[in-house]
Amino acid sequence: MIAFRPLCRGDFALLSVWLEREHVARWWPDPHDPASLEAHYGPSIDALDPTEVFVTLVEDRPVGMIQRYLVADYPEWERAVRSAGVTEPAVGIDYLIGEPDLIGRGLGPRVISAFVAETWARYPEVPQLVVAVQQENRHSWRALEKCGFERVFAGMIDSDDPSDAGPSFVYGTWRP
Ligand SMILES: CC(C)(COP(=O)(O)OP(=O)(O)OC[C@H]1O[C@@H](n2cnc3c(N)ncnc32)[C@H](O)[C@@H]1OP(=O)(O)O)[C@@H](O)C(=O)NCCC(=O)NCCS
Repeated sequence: MIAFRPLCRGDFALLSVWLEREHVARWWPDPHDPASLEAHYGPSIDALDPTEVFVTLVEDRPVGMIQRYLVADYPEWERAVRSAGVTEPAVGIDYLIGEPDLIGRGLGPRVISAFVAETWARYPEVPQLVVAVQQENRHSWRALEKCGFERVFAGMIDSDDPSDAGPSFVYGTWRP
């Protein structure tokens, strides 16, 4: 019922709608005009950037976006994550469900769990998966806890990204 397919440029209009929605924009404050989407996601679509970006499908309905990357591919972020106590090689994931009618109904944990399972298979050498989340984003960190993630850090993350502004948590889960 839950599936992931690679993001393509034909998804930009829908992605823009999702990023505009209030429940997403607060936590994902990225510009989402066509040029910004192309600049941000075009390289991943063309496999020039190592982040893999997917559309989440529920019974074939596109409901959100989810992405993963090797932390080591982004040295500044790796430094920030290490200063938060993550010492093992790790994969980072980020996610959103864009459809407001699906929020707060337990879908997020199912999506994240399915994606985590696929990600272990994609990166067989990596022992840990991490997510940075603002402390105020209870929706997100509760969803992670329901998937078995554990809180490994609480505090300010050394990052310029606006989505890391304010007190954050870092959550981790380990290869079963
Ligand atoms: C984060 C997200 C994927 C979670 O998915 P979800 O399907 O909403 O998750 P759940 O239904 O399991 O709800 C998670 C928690 O949020 C709580 N919640 C529901 N409505 C809420 C609200 N208005 N404010 C705060 N928490 C709320 C739920 O009660 C649940 O906590 P509980 O288990 O203690 O009851 C989804 O909310 C989302 O995409 N949000 C916008 C983008 C985002 O924040 N991305 C993450 C950036 S780190």
